[in-house]
Amino acid sequence: MYTPEVLISEEEIALRIEVLGEAISKEYANQELVVICVLKGAFIFCADLIKKINLPVKLEFITLASYGEGTQSSGNVKLEMDVTGSVEGRNILIVEDIVDSGLTIKTLIGLLEQRNPKSIKLASLLFKPSKVKHPVDIDYLGFEIEDKFVIGYGLDYAGRYRELPYIGVLNAGQ
Ligand code: IMP
Repeated sequence: MYTPEVLISEEEIALRIEVLGEAISKEYANQELVVICVLKGAFIFCADLIKKINLPVKLEFITLASYGEGTQSSGNVKLEMDVTGSVEGRNILIVEDIVDSGLTIKTLIGLLEQRNPKSIKLASLLFKPSKVKHPVDIDYLGFEIEDKFVIGYGLDYAGRYRELPYIGVLNAGQ
């Protein structure tokens, strides 16, 4: 059986998510929060994060596609599936798996801004600073990582490896 190299363990992820959840709960105390989970990559992070947010949360899903089958962005971001409810006048927390070039999240923020929310903030599990072409503020960041293609904990390579419980590194030939 293939076991990828572990970059961030299950335990490290869980501890970091507790800290992020606490900070989010404090920031939005006594306010309503719409969490927008960016599919598919953020689904595990988002599920674990909202369990640590001590507030009433309205959960939405959105699907954006920027990568094809490979490890490089196509440079195009397409909205494949939109949220179902209105976000006008709401506090939005976008939950993303990884900010790489920043194009996906910049496009999403631009799209949501047109819908007049009260606020938009971003939680991202991972950030690759060396790859940024479109800088965005990450309000709640899990981990900064080197320029390696990572898999697991929701992140895929060509649709595979999402089920790994940790963040692993994709090695050539796998
Ligand atoms: P960006 O638009 O370049 O910031 O790319 C963001 C999207 O690309 C993420 O939501 C992921 O779906 C995907 N992505 C970028 N880097 C990786 C990686 O190392 N592993 C898996 N997916 C990645």
